[in-house]
Amino acid sequence: MCGIVGYIGAREAYPIIINGLRRLEYRGYDSAGIVLNYPGSNELIKTKGKVADLEEKSKGKQLNANIGIGHTRWATHGEPNDVNSHPHLSNDGRIMLVHNGIIENYEPLKIQLKEYGFTFESETDSEVLANLIQYFKSKENLSLTEAVRYALNEVVGAYAIAVMDNESSDEIVVARLGSPLAIGLGEDEFFIASDASPFVEFTKDAIYLEDGEMATITRGEEVIVRKIEGNEIVSPAIQELQIGLEQIEKGGYEHFMLKEINEQPKSILDTMRGRLLPEEGLIRMAGIWDHKEKFYNAKRIIIVACGTSWHAGLVGEYLIEEFARIPVEVEYASEFRYRNPIINKDDVVIAISQSGETADTLAALKLAKDKGAFIYGICNVVGSSIARLTDAGSFTHAGPEIGVASTKAFTAQLTVLTLIALKLGNHNGNLTTERYRSLCYELMNIPQLVEKALESNDIIKEIAAKYKDSENALYLGRGYNFPTALEGALKLKEISYIHAEGYPAAEMKHGPIALIDENMPVIVIAPKKGHYDKVVSNIQEIKSRKGKIIAVVTEGDVQVRDLADYVIEIPDCSEEFSPILATIPLQLLSYHIAVMRGANVDQPRNLAKSVTVE
Ligand code: G6P
Repeated sequence: MCGIVGYIGAREAYPIIINGLRRLEYRGYDSAGIVLNYPGSNELIKTKGKVADLEEKSKGKQLNANIGIGHTRWATHGEPNDVNSHPHLSNDGRIMLVHNGIIENYEPLKIQLKEYGFTFESETDSEVLANLIQYFKSKENLSLTEAVRYALNEVVGAYAIAVMDNESSDEIVVARLGSPLAIGLGEDEFFIASDASPFVEFTKDAIYLEDGEMATITRGEEVIVRKIEGNEIVSPAIQELQIGLEQIEKGGYEHFMLKEINEQPKSILDTMRGRLLPEEGLIRMAGIWDHKEKFYNAKRIIIVACGTSWHAGLVGEYLIEEFARIPVEVEYASEFRYRNPIINKDDVVIAISQSGETADTLAALKLAKDKGAFIYGICNVVGSSIARLTDAGSFTHAGPEIGVASTKAFTAQLTVLTLIALKLGNHNGNLTTERYRSLCYELMNIPQLVEKALESNDIIKEIAAKYKDSENALYLGRGYNFPTALEGALKLKEISYIHAEGYPAAEMKHGPIALIDENMPVIVIAPKKGHYDKVVSNIQEIKSRKGKIIAVVTEGDVQVRDLADYVIEIPDCSEEFSPILATIPLQLLSYHIAVMRGANVDQPRNLAKSVTVE
């Protein structure tokens, strides 16, 4: 939610900030803005719309300052318009601020500031914070760092902020609580960003602020990090960035989403690399092995997640219960955190999150931790808040995922969950050595089968052209592929804005069947294994009501081919691995439909990739 970028050094700040904002647009694209800090004055440009609109608005201006901050917004308080866009200025025009997060107590603070004579232009919580900083700065004659610290001690909520004062064009103050903030350390220059992507080509060294920390970044000096509460100076860990520029560029593809769909053979292999060693008869996962007693003694495993990651969790439930026979519950993090759940010390709570920053998942995890559960993370972003909070975890190695709709992160999550389930099942004796070995060998081959599944692109394009104007779509699957149906429907609605629902195929007759007519495309996931015969019966039921059937089938299938309007073949595999393969054509189908409808595939309306507000 919202992206922040800043620069201080010898180069021109404007191009670095604009480029950085473009890379952070996945975090929100309701509005964009930039402010450059010249001695004694500033240049503020902001606009409703995207970074491209901001660039348009900046044309013809003299923008040569070498210090500035910028923002791309996902609106929380106040509609997306020019006035509510960031950066915000304080009443005296001196304090410049960008903010990612929510100031929950902004109303009482605003009332108080109004009593002191402050006025407000926007409806945002962030403008309140800018004025609060001005208030402390002028009333107590404080340095910018101190004024920010005083103000933040009054604030309840979540934030990552970057603040400048036009009294000094040599300093930026940043702080974080609940929203991420990274500082890139160059030679005599510093970069600030919500994640490291805006500065990967300039430096590999970064400080990730911890919750409750702030930093003073002064030209030509060391970065000073301190606690917001208590003011204690801390010495920050400098991390070496693992991502390269090529990973965050489109690499010849028209959209990031298409690139990421096509990267899946590699991202799944990367996620298995060094972990799956069938020749040696083992799966190596330090996070599980070091804490195996926790898992073996667990009376149950609770998986918490949101969105696509929640769908991965549902598949995880099937896998862990099947292979390891440990009871699993899967919860929406947003429900779990507020429903006073029963959590015991011998529960293992697994959080699944691509970004590692989702506010609800983070809060659910904190709750479980407070109640004494062992908490485990499956995250894609190294150094993320969830990854740092957990007792142990396994990273998915999908690489940066930029398209807002999750694709390669999902299949990487399924891969990690499969590895965990197999490892637990092998060690607690629920899987025979023979079955375990044969599954491991088969899993090793999955990246190649994903490669094959991608070959259906042409027929999928044809299907997309046929159904692109549908207003509704139904996705059906059973067993392991019920979550696949949910994920397929989510992908379609996210990026093409077609109303789509996923259902367990057998539940169709308890409601959705009423919707079926000759205009309703029904996408049925019907691989040969599992509950094939039952799904075939469900297909018959759709056909007799004239629904249009698009079936995802195992290659060589003839029975469903006879019934369906279209079939998309996936390679044969064990039922347990079929969600990884069956999800590929569903991703492609959504992608092509969205492109044909002229939708912005990588930045669907109203969505953001990293949801750091609840
Ligand atoms: C947002 C994204 C989804 C994602 C969900 C959970 O809604 O648009 O793609 O599945 O957040 O995100 P996480 O980073 O926790 O997996």
